[in-house]
Amino acid sequence: MSQKWVIGNWKMNGDLSSNITLLSAITHASGTAKMAVCVPYPYLAQAQVALQGSAVLLAAQDVSQFDKGAYTGEVSASMLKEFGVTMVLVGHSERRSLFGETDDIVAAKAASAIKAGLTPVVCVGETLAERDSGQAKEVVLRQFKAVSDYIGVEGLNQCVLAYEPVWAIGTGLTATPEQAQEVHAWLREAATQAGAVDISILYGGSVKAVNAAEIFGQADVDGGLIGGASLVAEEFTAIYQAI
Ligand code: 13P
Repeated sequence: MSQKWVIGNWKMNGDLSSNITLLSAITHASGTAKMAVCVPYPYLAQAQVALQGSAVLLAAQDVSQFDKGAYTGEVSASMLKEFGVTMVLVGHSERRSLFGETDDIVAAKAASAIKAGLTPVVCVGETLAERDSGQAKEVVLRQFKAVSDYIGVEGLNQCVLAYEPVWAIGTGLTATPEQAQEVHAWLREAATQAGAVDISILYGGSVKAVNAAEIFGQADVDGGLIGGASLVAEEFTAIYQAI
């Protein structure tokens, strides 16, 4: 059985005062799945303190593929580790589409996270145009394979996967449970073929308290990667409890 997860991705949201309220509320949520929150870099220290003693894991939204050196603006995996980070998103579609991250960069980032002992949450997903032209499977598996070939089965066993159809992110359009399950099954098969066992595969894209249980109920959906709804404590807690 794969580990179940609900992970919040705050994206570029939050401030010192609202973070405290939100973090304190989510630490009181009770449930069986693991919970993590991906906070913006400047708030890692604040969140590290706020989450201390709770079961909620601290995560980041990105990581450099480089270890150290003259890479202005970059943040290394070992720096994240110093602030108690245990997981990091790599290859989020916003990084791919807005900041030019290629499959190769995403793979190198996953490797750099693993090297530092962090769990990469490897995000994959197709655009609407790709889905409409029948390329969803090819795109998602190409993105997966780029990472899996680079880090090998040992690396893969330390990853969490997240399927986030680009057309469902922040749009209010959610993949139907059947659409999510179909892609998750492709990913499960690819991971199994690569030799990985029990990898967790999360769904992301307009997950809300009202639709979470149905999506989480699919055989190959091991939880969610939550954007907008992770900024509202009651909503995020309800999603967490839907698993
Ligand atoms: P929304 O839940 O806001 O659609 O965002 C999903 C996402 O991108 C999480 O990483």
